[in-house]
Amino acid sequence: MTRVAVLKGGRSLERNVSLRSGARVEDALERGGHDVVGIDVGSDLVARLRDAAPDVAFVALHGRDGEDGTVQELLELVGIPYTGSGVSACVRCWDKVLAKHLMRGAGIPTPDFYAFSETAFKELGAAEALPAIEERLAFPVVVKPAAQGSALGIKFASDAGAVPGALVAAFSYDRKVLLERHISGRDLAVSLVDGEPLPVVEAVPEGGADAYDFEARYTIGRTRFVCPAQLGDEDTARAQSLARAAWELFGCRGFARVDLMREDATGELFVLEVEAVPGLTETSLLPQAAEAGGLGFDELIGRLVELALAGAPAY
Ligand SMILES: Nc1ncnc2c1ncn2[C@@H]1O[C@H](COP(=O)(O)OP(=O)(O)O)[C@@H](O)[C@H]1O
Ligand SMILES: [Mg+2]
Repeated sequence: MTRVAVLKGGRSLERNVSLRSGARVEDALERGGHDVVGIDVGSDLVARLRDAAPDVAFVALHGRDGEDGTVQELLELVGIPYTGSGVSACVRCWDKVLAKHLMRGAGIPTPDFYAFSETAFKELGAAEALPAIEERLAFPVVVKPAAQGSALGIKFASDAGAVPGALVAAFSYDRKVLLERHISGRDLAVSLVDGEPLPVVEAVPEGGADAYDFEARYTIGRTRFVCPAQLGDEDTARAQSLARAAWELFGCRGFARVDLMREDATGELFVLEVEAVPGLTETSLLPQAAEAGGLGFDELIGRLVELALAGAPAY
């Protein structure tokens, strides 16, 4: 019997989502006959891991610490194999500015952007450069913190007057923010398990274009998910191959979810980001995609544990 420590909760803004992912993972592992220890991650994490002495850790944490490589670094040090990506892949995925630079360098299309730290505004007068940025990106401009997930701190600024407020909101989540070209189109996600792309999911916000906010995403019924997305074969293949290219570029392992947009006017696909620890709640995209690909939830969770134990090298 494999002893699995399920790491969940934590202190990030996505604590509640993580508790839900973690509870579902625990149930699935118990049904699979594993010996399960749930750990709500806090300052005693290392001590609790040593006490529990699991064969493997299932990282069901989202947001800061759990997804940015911190917990992965501790697991490396304590010598416990863990699910999902290794430290450097987590670091590359977590920082959207770094991730977008890497994608741009590798020829993976991602919306144009400009990124600034708080000090650029406080000490270097970056506000003076905003009109030039706005001219290049055109309105609406998307303003988002470099790190965070679940659409936290993301605002669409429809005119110059809305940009300062959007920047203040984004800076309340991170010291680095990006201004990004807005893509008017469809919201797609391609999840991968062991590098294999699953069917594409489309997230359709209900009740207005701006309704895609944090609350909508986790409230059943406010975002409709269509899987497989109604796309032509060519778009599906392109979305999956971009997702695979991003997986390889970032050095992901186990599983990941790649968020994309398909621009209505041009049909072009853009990668927004790669989620190193995708949600596993009942409304999350990866479990839905796995299901559509013939991989039930229990099987999915069992497979992720197997992959962790198989010890593919962490990048
Ligand atoms: N450049 C963009 N153009 C249009 N919509 C965007 C853009 N960036 C983000 N969004 C919307 O916000 C959502 C969250 O953005 P994303 O970059 O994936 O950050 P998060 O880490 O919060 O998921 C996207 O799924 C999309 O609906
Ligand atoms: Mg996203």
